[in-house]
Amino acid sequence: MAEIRREKCLLITGATGSLGSELVRHYYPEYQILAQGRNAEKLLRLKLAYPRTEMVLGDLRAPGLREAVRRADVVIHTAAQKYVNLAERHCYYTVDTNVNCTYELADLAARHGVERFIFISTDKSSFPTNVYGITKYLAERLILELAEVYPQTTYVICRFGNIFGSSGSVVQLWLEAQRRREPIQVTDPNMTRFMFSLPDAVAAVDFALHQGRSGDIIIPKMKSVCLRDLMQLFSDAPIEIIGRRPGEKVHETLYVQGEISTGYETDQYYVLNTRDTTRLALRDINSSECERVPLTTLRQWLQQLIRSAA
Ligand SMILES: NC(=O)c1ccc[n+]([C@@H]2O[C@H](COP(=O)([O-])OP(=O)(O)OC[C@H]3O[C@@H](n4cnc5c(N)ncnc54)[C@H](OP(=O)(O)O)[C@@H]3O)[C@@H](O)[C@H]2O)c1
Repeated sequence: MAEIRREKCLLITGATGSLGSELVRHYYPEYQILAQGRNAEKLLRLKLAYPRTEMVLGDLRAPGLREAVRRADVVIHTAAQKYVNLAERHCYYTVDTNVNCTYELADLAARHGVERFIFISTDKSSFPTNVYGITKYLAERLILELAEVYPQTTYVICRFGNIFGSSGSVVQLWLEAQRRREPIQVTDPNMTRFMFSLPDAVAAVDFALHQGRSGDIIIPKMKSVCLRDLMQLFSDAPIEIIGRRPGEKVHETLYVQGEISTGYETDQYYVLNTRDTTRLALRDINSSECERVPLTTLRQWLQQLIRSAA
């Protein structure tokens, strides 16, 4: 059997996370993967599943990561402190991780000749109201600045809504509450969130990898979910309404007027870029106003999640 040539080296930060580990699985056949993670046990499990993967153990400040950047052709930067409530209470750590470390990594990437740097951002960066969102907004801005400074590296940003069932997500918390026979905690049943599946998130990263141009912000055209609909998936569970947490919005925005207004769109994505000349007729994209994910799709996603965890 002819051996597959894996000349290219792909560094995935946060490779032990929900998105990162799925990206390892997706790109494993094609690339030499360098997987960065802080948790040794999770990294070792990844290595068992994907034996050619090289582990880069440590946080974003560890020297091993610099060596990995030196070897990488492509970097996909997913590692972040993504918990909104923790960010409110650990502001310095969140700024340092999400802003400073992202900037240093992205800058180092260009200095070491990395061809492409993909940064995973969030809709919470759009008109941010919490520390987490502000850090991602700043990181987006810094990446765009680096795209101007280093033309030899292609910097692409993916701005995502919620990935259904990702670690620490409301669905994971509710499943855990169910297992413990405790009430599911609902902040506000009227809240809406942009939501899509993990395979859709991987597809968007793949679009960034193959079609993204430097300075692009790629925004998937996502549907939204109202917490009230999500609660229907847990209709047997007792409910405890706990109210909105500091910094949380009732509805999210994927894009607000006043941001970059030039670019192009496909059936699946808005692609913003200041270098484009075509104006996108975009108004605010608010999760309360867009199409909802059908309940049947939510049920399918939940079944898949439960099956994959079994
Ligand atoms: N999940 C979503 O719904 C969603 C939506 C929009 C955007 N995003 C963005 O997508 C990315 C991935 O999200 P995810 O859900 O996959 O997150 P996740 O499951 O929490 O994974 C985050 C990863 O980052 C690592 N990490 C955290 N802090 C670190 C640090 N200081 N140094 C090194 N590594 C660190 C974690 O390592 P450990 O395993 O050691 O903790 C983990 O591997 C994040 O940038 C997030 O902001 C996620």
